[in-house]
Amino acid sequence: MPAMTRRFSTRGVPGSDVGAYYKRRAEGGTGLIITEGGYIDTEGPLSQPDVPVFFGEAALAAWREIVHAVHDAGAGIAPQIWHAHLKPDPDTGSIPPESVAQLLHTYVAAGAEIARAGFDGVEIQGGGKHTADLFTTTGDGEPLVTAVVRSVRREVGDDFPIILRVSEWRRSDGRTPLAQSDAELSALLRPCADAGVSIFHLDTAAFDVLPYGGAFAGDRPLASRVRELTGRPVIAVGGIAVADPAVTLGNLETLARAVEREEIDMLALGRAHLADPAWVEKFRTGRLAEARPYDESLRGTLH
Ligand SMILES: Cc1cc2nc3c(=O)[nH]c(=O)nc-3n(C[C@H](O)[C@H](O)[C@H](O)COP(=O)(O)O)c2cc1C
Repeated sequence: MPAMTRRFSTRGVPGSDVGAYYKRRAEGGTGLIITEGGYIDTEGPLSQPDVPVFFGEAALAAWREIVHAVHDAGAGIAPQIWHAHLKPDPDTGSIPPESVAQLLHTYVAAGAEIARAGFDGVEIQGGGKHTADLFTTTGDGEPLVTAVVRSVRREVGDDFPIILRVSEWRRSDGRTPLAQSDAELSALLRPCADAGVSIFHLDTAAFDVLPYGGAFAGDRPLASRVRELTGRPVIAVGGIAVADPAVTLGNLETLARAVEREEIDMLALGRAHLADPAWVEKFRTGRLAEARPYDESLRGTLH
């Protein structure tokens, strides 16, 4: 299950309804839950109230309970973490060193708390609609993301999985491709792997649409390109199970072949999970036709 923001956490603290929502997915057969994105800096919640946070005793205590409940039901759970603000120097456009230091400090503190809370890993959001674009380059020409991953890795040790969520687009504008060739993609992501990323999670609108109009070599989804270029396991996401059951089964057959060929390691299903907590179990037992289909109205409740 990939991150899906739900905005039901009053003042950033997930309540028992949020815990029950995740537990239902764990009981419904999901292997790994990546939580909704949550802030690690104090400024984020000012612009996005009711999005959960991963700092402060109240929120962390609530998350610890959720972690226990999900583990008891047999699934793993990793939080997706957001940082809201980068403050570029208005004259140069680059991020001043003191802001970089503050940002790294915030990520390191969050990494430590998350590992202590018993989560099975952490997903760093590389850049979303409401989050800092970590592919922004600092004064020394290094994208922030590499320094963030390196700092978190140093804090959590070698064995704690760090997932990096990477969008096919630069999320600062949502239009510019992250990279336009294998060489550019490799130049961005290999240093992230070297810095300590365990798994890349490739955010694409549709898993089977070739990135950037087929600019990369071979007719492969972005996730498998990244696997090949970085040597790290990958999660594919985007439109895998949101069509009618027959189309979904076709998608899953295509992806199962990619998993068998070791081109993709994990599949994330977003809206399917939001619509039906037992989607995975229904799929596994040949009852996909019984799964509740997604519609937009489902975003308004936690069920
Ligand atoms: C309600 C909703 C909230 C989302 N919130 C997040 C988020 O917090 N972080 C994130 O990286 N992606 C977020 N996404 C994107 C999903 O993780 C996923 O990439 C997207 O839904 C496509 O997968 P799907 O076709 O299986 O639904 C959200 C999607 C939905 C539907």
